[in-house]
Amino acid sequence: MYRNFAIVPRIIFGRGCFAQVDDILAERRSDGGSMVFILDDVHRGRPLEGRIPLRGDDAILHVNVNDEPKTSYIDALVAQIREMLPRLPDGIVGIGGGATLDIAKAVALLLTNPGSAADYQGWDLIKTPAVYKVGIPTLSGTGAEISRTTVLTGPQKKLGINSDFTLFDQIVLDPELLAGVPKDQWFYTGMDCYIHDVESLQGTYINEFSKSYGEKSIDLCRQVFLEDHPDKDDKLMMASYFGGMSIAYSQVGACHALSYGLSFILGIHHGIGCCIAFDQLDEFYPDGVAEFRQMMARHDIALPRQVTVGLSDDEMERMVTVALGLAPLWENCLGPDWQRLMTRERARGLLQRM
Ligand SMILES: NC(=O)c1ccc[n+]([C@@H]2O[C@H](COP(=O)([O-])OP(=O)(O)OC[C@H]3O[C@@H](n4cnc5c(N)ncnc54)[C@H](O)[C@@H]3O)[C@@H](O)[C@H]2O)c1
Ligand SMILES: [Fe+2]
Repeated sequence: MYRNFAIVPRIIFGRGCFAQVDDILAERRSDGGSMVFILDDVHRGRPLEGRIPLRGDDAILHVNVNDEPKTSYIDALVAQIREMLPRLPDGIVGIGGGATLDIAKAVALLLTNPGSAADYQGWDLIKTPAVYKVGIPTLSGTGAEISRTTVLTGPQKKLGINSDFTLFDQIVLDPELLAGVPKDQWFYTGMDCYIHDVESLQGTYINEFSKSYGEKSIDLCRQVFLEDHPDKDDKLMMASYFGGMSIAYSQVGACHALSYGLSFILGIHHGIGCCIAFDQLDEFYPDGVAEFRQMMARHDIALPRQVTVGLSDDEMERMVTVALGLAPLWENCLGPDWQRLMTRERARGLLQRM
């Protein structure tokens, strides 16, 4: 069976296109309605905040992403919006990195679906369309702008709300918004994209659809991280989009599986966690890891080391369980026989090196 998957229907791309957000939203405004802008608090008081096209009863909700988004945080934001507004907003507009985009998607879904965000972690559990939602990245690499998931940490698991309803209705890709991202963060999130491409292209699930997007994305990553281009932010923004499109029709692999283990037990953020894991995966992705190290050297990036040293036996075992629970990622990496190839001992050995 082939997947019949939905994609984001409306995309605007180009330097300065943020200025068109007011016009884009105008089509969606109802009489007496309002838009809620979910803004990464890193932008609080910065010029971008002043450019948000507020009208009528529109509101800005500042969100903090020092921790990756939790289901309890989504529930609290939804309650806050319900209290603030007499009826559903006309739209939710997320402005920030992958975490903020995920928060915006989840809030839009939970405004129309009853219960807690935790009830919908899984595949296709959402039954009612979300309110209209717009994603505006200010950091590029995760592919969250194009994906059909919002990754959340719940009481029991770290798992996305995966559904066709999760997709944004509109994305606004303005490369000017990437200015001012700290170098390390730019690198880690950019490498998330590079790793998506390597894992997709080298995976057993690869097909011409994913290859077409993955090859273009990895080419753009090479231009961004190994060459000098004045329009590198434009390139990275498109690399992220294409990388997301590539994995949408294939899968990620060993690096993402292991990094989920790091993240669940140690709270390590996605981009940096992928870098820590990838640096130990020569045996799976020799060419990709060698090129990744060239990129690190060129940008003078020093990764944290030995992050799993000092963990208890129980914590290590839970980390292994989380990583090996992601069966499709391992099957993509190693084929249908992956369980024989990736034993608990081998996974633990890899994590111990990180
Ligand atoms: N939905 C998906 O498909 C998907 C895919 C991969 C990762 N994710 C999620 O995305 C998150 C990671 O996203 P990320 O790597 O983009 O980082 P992020 O959103 O966690 O942001 C990282 C840091 O960069 C800051 N930042 C963002 N934009 C900035 C700007 N323009 N200038 C200065 N600072 C800025 C943020 O405030 C934060 O401190 C994780 O929560 C992960 O689970 C989602
Ligand atoms: Fe990723």
